[in-house]
Amino acid sequence: MDSTRVSSERLQKVLPDALAAIQGVIEKHRVTEDEWSAVLAFLTEVARRDEFVLLSDVTKTSVLVDAISHEGETGVTPSDVEGPLYREQPPWREKPVKIYEEYEGSENGDVLFVRGRVTSADGTPIRGAVLDIWQTGPDGGYDLWDERQPDYNFRGRFGVEEDGGYEFQTMVPKPYTVPTEGPVGRLLEAIGQHPWRPAHIHFKVEAEGHETLITQVFFPDDPYLENDTIGAVKSALVRPLTRHESEEELTRRGLDAPFYTCEFDITLKPALSGGQA
Ligand code: BEZ
Ligand code: FE
Repeated sequence: MDSTRVSSERLQKVLPDALAAIQGVIEKHRVTEDEWSAVLAFLTEVARRDEFVLLSDVTKTSVLVDAISHEGETGVTPSDVEGPLYREQPPWREKPVKIYEEYEGSENGDVLFVRGRVTSADGTPIRGAVLDIWQTGPDGGYDLWDERQPDYNFRGRFGVEEDGGYEFQTMVPKPYTVPTEGPVGRLLEAIGQHPWRPAHIHFKVEAEGHETLITQVFFPDDPYLENDTIGAVKSALVRPLTRHESEEELTRRGLDAPFYTCEFDITLKPALSGGQA
């Protein structure tokens, strides 16, 4: 975010309150010069390591801003935090869509087909919608930090069918820890907050005349559903996984091991302006 995207009017309104809140805490807790220097050094390191989004996430500030930004929305798919691991311009995936290549380690995971329909709030299918997906591999790593994976593995963009339908092949993700090797990781350790997130798949959905939706899908029975370190789980975004193991289904999919499916219909909010948000 660039400070020029916040108007002077808003800055003049919000900044004095923000400063008063911080200074109130300093006074209440009699914060010393050494402590304040440590805070400034920490924030400098957070900036150098590009961890401000991560800091906003683990302090659950991102969840609060998401809730305020989408307050009162009904009849549309709930939004969720984007997080720091989105990468611009992921590969365009042709149909049948598969967003990964196998790699050493992926053989221990389970194949998953996610499917659904993208519609507008009035139920009309949105045939021009584009989905952009990102997630970890089946043993908890993003392409950015798992050297075994090809670049942009478990990421991809693709369009929906004429009736708004989509399906993509991926693998069932697992819970994983947010990056812990930098200053935010040290902060988590110091305050005794674990770094785990429940397994999830990120979605960014764009369509003309609609607001862009950024959200995540979670799965039942995950040990971190109730205590996600960024607090981003919404019950409406938890979707069951169905296991398939019949010979007939395996043959139809060209697979030699049981696989899972997950249904996730997506409803977008029409943009007020009628243009793309
Ligand atoms: C993620 O889901 O990718 C994520 C979210 C917040 C912090 C770190 C990672
Ligand atoms: Fe993630």
